[in-house]
Amino acid sequence: MQTTLPTIDILVATTSGNTEYLADQLSDQLQQQGYSTRLHYEPVYSDLVEAVNEQSYWLACIASHGAGEYADSMLDFAADLHAKNPALDPLRYAVIAVGDTCYDTYCAAGRDFDHKLKELGAKPLIERLEIDMSVDDPEKKASTWLDYFTQQL
Ligand SMILES: Cc1cc2nc3c(=O)[nH]c(=O)nc-3n(C[C@H](O)[C@H](O)[C@H](O)COP(=O)(O)O)c2cc1C
Repeated sequence: MQTTLPTIDILVATTSGNTEYLADQLSDQLQQQGYSTRLHYEPVYSDLVEAVNEQSYWLACIASHGAGEYADSMLDFAADLHAKNPALDPLRYAVIAVGDTCYDTYCAAGRDFDHKLKELGAKPLIERLEIDMSVDDPEKKASTWLDYFTQQL
C-alpha cells in the first residue's frame, strides 16, 4: 500500500536571515526524506490561515527581535492572527523558536506563536524547540529535533 507523505508549510520569521538559512536547511532535510515543502519567507495570512484543512501541517521557525517581538517577515501575519483569532482546529504544527538568552525576552515570539496556535485549537505535533544563538549550533540542534518531528507526521 502506498501512503502519501504530507506537505509541510514552513513559516519563517526573520529579520537578519539566520532563521531563513535554518529553514532552508530543514526544508532540504525534509525533502531528502520524501516530504514536499512550501517555504513562506513572508507568510501571508490569507494564503495560510484561510487554507487550513485536515491536511495542513506547519513548521514555524520564528526569531524574536525588538523586545520579544516577531522578526520583521512575520509581523503582519502575527498581528492578523491576534486580531482575527481564527479557529484552527484541523491544523497540526510545530514551532522552532530562535533567540538569544542575553535578552530578557528570550524566544518570546516563538513562545507566543506556540501558545496562540494552541489557544486557537491547533494541535502541536511535538514540544517546541528553542535555539539559543549564543550557545547552540542551530542546524545541528534543529536537525536532531526534526527527526522526532517527522516521526509524528
Ligand atoms: C535588535 C535585536 C533584538 C533582539 N531581541 C531578541 C529578543 O527579544 N529575544 C530573543 O530571544 N532574541 C532576540 N534577539 C536575538 C535574535 O533572535 C537572534 O539574533 C536571531 O538569530 C535573529 O534571527 P534572524 O537573523 O533570523 O532575524 C535580538 C537580536 C537583535 C539584533
